[in-house]
Amino acid sequence: MSDVLALAGVSVVRGRTRLIEDIDWEVEEGQRWVILGPNGAGKTTLLEVASARMHPTKGVAGILDEVLGAVDVFELRPRIGLVSALLARQIPARENVRDVVVTASWGVTGRWRERYDDLDHDRADELLESMGVAHLGERTFGTLSEGERKRVQVARALMTDPELMLLDEPAAGLDLGGREDLVARLGDIAADLTAPALTMVTHHVEEIPPNFTDVLLLRGGRVVAQGPLELTLTEENLARTFDMDLELQRHGDRWSARART
Ligand SMILES: Nc1ncnc2c1ncn2[C@@H]1O[C@H](COP(=O)(O)OP(=O)(O)O)[C@@H](O)[C@H]1O
Ligand SMILES: [Mg+2]
Repeated sequence: MSDVLALAGVSVVRGRTRLIEDIDWEVEEGQRWVILGPNGAGKTTLLEVASARMHPTKGVAGILDEVLGAVDVFELRPRIGLVSALLARQIPARENVRDVVVTASWGVTGRWRERYDDLDHDRADELLESMGVAHLGERTFGTLSEGERKRVQVARALMTDPELMLLDEPAAGLDLGGREDLVARLGDIAADLTAPALTMVTHHVEEIPPNFTDVLLLRGGRVVAQGPLELTLTEENLARTFDMDLELQRHGDRWSARART
C-alpha cells in the first residue's frame, strides 16, 4: 500500500446518526484534494478519521501505510499536519507566534518545559516567512487578525514536515483580502512538488486554490462524486451536492458558483 490515505467502507455512527457512511476514498502522494459539501455533510468527521483523531465505526482507514486501530496514533499524528478551528481554539492567546509554530514539533500547544534546538527555530522562522508572517514572530497569537492566525496555523501544520496536510475550512471567517491571500498561498504550496499530499475542506468553490487536482463531493455523509477536479466538479454534481440548481463557472484556475435564476 503506497497510498497516503486508503479508506474502505468507512462509516462513523453516533447513536442513531450516521455522520459518514460507506466512504471509499484514496489519496495518493502528490494529489491535492478538495472536499466540498454543505454544512452537516460530514466533512469534519471525515477529516477527523483521516487525521487519526477518530476511529471508524465500520470499515478500514489506512493512513500513511498504517491501519487505524493497529497503530499508535501518537506516532501517526505528527506525520499529519492539521489546520482546524478546534485545534486553533487550543492555542493559548498569550502564546508567542514563534512558539505556536515551534511547539508543533512536539505535538503540543502551549510551551512548557520542552527544549527546542536552533534548527527547530530556524525552520519555524522559514515557515513564517513563507507564509508572509515573519514580522509577527514575537507577537502573541491572541493579538493577530483572523487571516494572520490562519497563516500561522498553516506554518505550524507544516512544522513537522508532514506527509499529509489536512485543512478544515481554512478560509472561513476571512475577509475578501484575507481569503484571496490564503487561497493564493495554498495554491503555491499545492504547486510545490515537495509539499505533502493536501486535503482541504470547504463549502465554497471560490475557495478552491489553484493547482488542486481532485475533488470529493459529500452530502448527508455519503459521497456524491469523486475524482479529478476538471471531470468531477460539474454543475450536475454540484447541484446534487447542494440540492439546488447552480450555475458553475471556471475562471482560469479558479471557480465560482451561484443559484441559477
Ligand atoms: N457526536 C455526535 N453525535 C451526533 N451527531 C453528531 C456528532 N458530531 C457531529 N454530528 C452531526 O453529524 C453531522 C456531520 O457533522 P460534521 O462532520 O461536523 O459536518 P460538516 O463538517 O460537513 O459540517 C452533522 O449533522 C452533525 O450535527
Ligand atoms: Mg465542518
